[in-house]
Amino acid sequence: MSRLIIEGGRPLHGSIEISGAKNSALAIIVAAALATEGECILDNIPQGSDIGTICLILQDLGVGVWFDDEDRLHIRGSSLNKHTASYDLVRKMRASFYSAGLLLARVGKAEVPLPGGCAIGSRPVDYHIKGFTHMGAEVTIEHGYMKAVANRLQGSQIYVNRASVGTTINLMIAASMAEGTTILENAAKEPEVVDLAIFLNGMGAKVRGAGTESIRIEGVDSLRGIEYSIIPDRIEAGTFLFAAAITGGDILVKSVVAEHLRVPIVKLEEAGVTITRGDNALHVAAPNGRLKPVDVETLPYPGFPTDLQQPLVATMCLAEGTSVVRETIFDRFRYVDELRRMGADIKTDQGTAIIRGVPQLTGAPVEITDLRAGAALAIAALAAEGRTELYGVEILDRGYEFFEEKLRALGATIYRED
Ligand code: EPZ
Repeated sequence: MSRLIIEGGRPLHGSIEISGAKNSALAIIVAAALATEGECILDNIPQGSDIGTICLILQDLGVGVWFDDEDRLHIRGSSLNKHTASYDLVRKMRASFYSAGLLLARVGKAEVPLPGGCAIGSRPVDYHIKGFTHMGAEVTIEHGYMKAVANRLQGSQIYVNRASVGTTINLMIAASMAEGTTILENAAKEPEVVDLAIFLNGMGAKVRGAGTESIRIEGVDSLRGIEYSIIPDRIEAGTFLFAAAITGGDILVKSVVAEHLRVPIVKLEEAGVTITRGDNALHVAAPNGRLKPVDVETLPYPGFPTDLQQPLVATMCLAEGTSVVRETIFDRFRYVDELRRMGADIKTDQGTAIIRGVPQLTGAPVEITDLRAGAALAIAALAAEGRTELYGVEILDRGYEFFEEKLRALGATIYRED
């Protein structure tokens, strides 16, 4: 068990480089194993334990997976020789369920454990399963596993409930080698979905319309390995924008696609932060004096992302006035109890948080409940007076590459104690 210690109260200054997008990488790593010809070589893969877990799942299925000396990830799908994913690995991370789409596409059968409970609420996979069924798979749930069989998946027209990101990704993977054309209506429009489509098309797939609510996938017989570089992580970039804002800092965030952060940028500007777009970079400067409060509702892309709700709430704890934040995607307010321990004035009612800004937060021991909550507590700690101890840091390690190193480069006092 380790913990992060943060001595707060210093504005962040300097520049940092954003890593590859974790959620894009998770989808693309699985999709890479669709190739039966050649190998995929993936660049800009962020380090983090979720990436480690997905690699282990593929290895367990017989896929060749290894990093070379330049940190590029090689995936050789031709050796895939199993159709049952390991419970011990799948239970660690929900994105493991993408292995179901892969296995159905590659071998026509899949036995994948249902991912269990999650710190951000009940997260079933019923939409994924409904999609597989529409494509002709016979699905049963037995002994905690989804067992699906389809000699070859058939193209189909599928309505994606709630524009689910994971369902869209899983069905794109499955449909890329199905017989006939699949149309995903109400598909997710997240940049990670677009990244996956570009990657699949590079492998020889025929995916059109990614980034809109209707994605058309014409199945092909086989896919080949390619080299590909993952897009920058918009959530990591957004987290640093909020970190600069809450600490009264002035930083340059490099390797970022500003368009992917359109709404968070608008909200930061509403709060009084100055954001200047550069060449693949964003310069962010907090105002003199306190931030202004903002009201936000989380929504599927291009709306305000649920993964930045927590950094936003943390930041609004120090605004001058009251902010109202409505979370519509997940049950994601458990961490506010920890912010209250640092002096925040937050009330939650069902999916809404009312944040009355206070002039100061104070450091405290706090517990990380989920990945993005970890980022939020860390940035609150950066602005707080005194020392914060963050417990449960292994949760943060799931999805932020070089988190402490990047913050230290910006002048923060942050270190890890085992
Ligand atoms: C993805 O989760 C991301 N994970 C999440 O990031 C992100 O918060 C979320 O999309 C929303 O943007 C990955 O990409 C690996 P959904 P996902 O399916 O795909 C309900 C992080 O911290 N639903 O779009 O699981 C679901 O419960 C993570 O990096 C069902 O009911 O999200 C939610 O309320 C956390 N049944 C809503 O739909 C299903 O079968 C949208 O979820 C699927 C989803």
